[in-house]
Amino acid sequence: MKTLSSARVSELFELHFGVAPVATVKAPGRVNLIGEHTDYNGGFVLPAAINYHTYIAFAPRDDRQLRLVAYNFDNETVVSDLDASQHQEASASWSNYARGVVQEMRRQGFTLAGGDLYIAGDLHSGAGLSSSASLEMALVRALASLSNEPIDPTQAALIGQAAENHFVGCNCGIMDQLISAHGQEHAALLIDCRDLSARAVPVPEDWEILIVHSGVKRGLVDSEYNQRRQQCEQAAAFFGKTSLRDLGLIQLLAAEAELDELSFRRARHVLTENQRTLCAAEALSTGNLVNLVKVMAESHASMRDDFNITVPAIDTLVNILADAGQGQAGVRMTGGGFGGCVVAVAPVDVVPRLAAAVEEHYQAQTGCIPTLIRAKASAGAFA
Ligand code: GLA
Repeated sequence: MKTLSSARVSELFELHFGVAPVATVKAPGRVNLIGEHTDYNGGFVLPAAINYHTYIAFAPRDDRQLRLVAYNFDNETVVSDLDASQHQEASASWSNYARGVVQEMRRQGFTLAGGDLYIAGDLHSGAGLSSSASLEMALVRALASLSNEPIDPTQAALIGQAAENHFVGCNCGIMDQLISAHGQEHAALLIDCRDLSARAVPVPEDWEILIVHSGVKRGLVDSEYNQRRQQCEQAAAFFGKTSLRDLGLIQLLAAEAELDELSFRRARHVLTENQRTLCAAEALSTGNLVNLVKVMAESHASMRDDFNITVPAIDTLVNILADAGQGQAGVRMTGGGFGGCVVAVAPVDVVPRLAAAVEEHYQAQTGCIPTLIRAKASAGAFA
């Protein structure tokens, strides 16, 4: 996909509306290094914002209308009356995320002002790199700016999540929105999703993040995401807890015989993944590649065997990368699952070897076409 910039999107606004915008904002997508399906269980995640964004150029209007134009969908235009209630569109269209954000901001007391908005992104949609969260964060920033209302990054993240939970119909956690809002250059963030506190974990200077899109498109709402969340809540309820975060691994293991097998495996993934995420943060901050490689491999196996969210093409891709890495590349599926991307973290001089192995073997073994994405840990929308 062609890379965009604020200047380019500002130009596109002018081409479309015939006047210059007053400002352009951007919000990044993310790659999660480890800590999958732990966020909605009050656990730990270790994502980084990446150098691919949703941009919005905007200008105020005199009326109470929002006119949203989407570059990535052939300039599809949605006009929304700020004083009318928002309705979902039948298709899982980009505009539902926008309508959801408008509804949530109004519900939270923002007055909102009319505006023309030109939206354009260079994130692959359906790749599991959070193009939707980046749209939400860019939109919250643009709308707050249009109505001159202050907003803090965590509040923005919660608005984005509420839009998905209440409007779009995806029961997602808070990770994607938080990292898109709070991301830092050259660092991943270790986020505790119970209290939303975050600590920057720098990526060693001579390491690189390589993302490989498997070519298998994913759909969160249609996938089994909401079902996984329910299963986790059921497992927690078995122990009289509201969140799996309050359950110890020893307590879980001791109850294996009493718990149904599926709940047991789902909970085991979440509890062990929390431990691996803390361990990975430590490994990243101390440059301990051996430990990072180990916990990322264990994380992938746990997603495959206990949480059942990988697909065969993704498992093949992980194997190809891990083999090529020869113990020098941490590799796992990243994101919600059922397709999407694999992430590798490795010293810069190992990365060409990984890329070559994907080019040589992946399509031949799976019939799917891979896309290599070299990513840099980047600043969030509110940085
Ligand atoms: C999606 C959701 C996140 C998180 C991940 C899995 O990206 O939006 O909240 O649950 O899946 O880790």
